[in-house]
Amino acid sequence: MKALIRSIRDIGPGMKLFALSPGDSNSFPAYEPGAHIDVLTPAGLVRQYSLCGDPCDRQVQSILVKRQATSRGGSDSMHSLASGQTLEIGPPRNCFALANDPGQHLLFSAGVGITPIVSMAHGLTALGRDFSWHHFAHAQDFVPLHGPLSLDKFDAALSVGLNLSRDQIATSIKRALVVNAACRFIYACGPSGFMADVAAHVAQIVPGATLRTEQFSPAPADPASHSFSVHLAKSNMTLDVGQRESLLDVLRRNGLAVPSGCEQGVCGACVIEVLGGIVLHNDDVLCDEERKHQRLMCACVSRAEGRLTLNL
Ligand code: FES
Repeated sequence: MKALIRSIRDIGPGMKLFALSPGDSNSFPAYEPGAHIDVLTPAGLVRQYSLCGDPCDRQVQSILVKRQATSRGGSDSMHSLASGQTLEIGPPRNCFALANDPGQHLLFSAGVGITPIVSMAHGLTALGRDFSWHHFAHAQDFVPLHGPLSLDKFDAALSVGLNLSRDQIATSIKRALVVNAACRFIYACGPSGFMADVAAHVAQIVPGATLRTEQFSPAPADPASHSFSVHLAKSNMTLDVGQRESLLDVLRRNGLAVPSGCEQGVCGACVIEVLGGIVLHNDDVLCDEERKHQRLMCACVSRAEGRLTLNL
């Protein structure tokens, strides 16, 4: 079906929020909370985007499009679109459905993983269900989303952790699980490391609960599969990074005080300057331009092809 681009808003680094109107009918088909649509991008590639609005609104569908440096042009071409143009989209599909359970529901999201969770919050609110939602993000990504996604509607249920360390995120998750131990259904969406942490804490604290997850972007094929080396230009040292360790670990072990936070590629605390070499980006922090320029990298998750020179 055709969708008319009603508006496009710039949201944080490398992100745009699209509001779509029905292009060849009076209304969009109904969709369930957690659903996504296939979008035929101008580059000719089909991409999936979670619907991040109110499922009861049949006149507007909202999607958040983040530029992906590793894409083959899909998200790039989406960012080249303007209001008034049309897109070909598929019907809503749902692989991340809410359980039909009258009890309390617990939602976790991180970074762009907020998108399907927003529609779940709308759905639970419409059903009058009790829920608690914990979101983790970098402030620069979250603050611009608050108004456009109408998150003030969920003030009573939503708890936001900004710029937290990985330990602080883990503490928040565990506390939420303890406080909401009676929840039978838990939902999580975010980067792979975040999802793994949620799953581990759920298994430990509420093993009887059902965890439903959706990862907002594919995990790197095997982020720890490459060993590589780094030359530190200021310190005049060359260090090897093994297959199963991070650059951040190696720098710390060798006495370099690199700041860090989430250690999952979400917060941006560990971004360092690259002077040369090919970075294999695995983070969710840098925008497409920054990745293309190959001058910055997240030491906690990103790796390299061969040897890098760093401004350390
Ligand atoms: S420590 Fe958060 S992105 Fe690396």
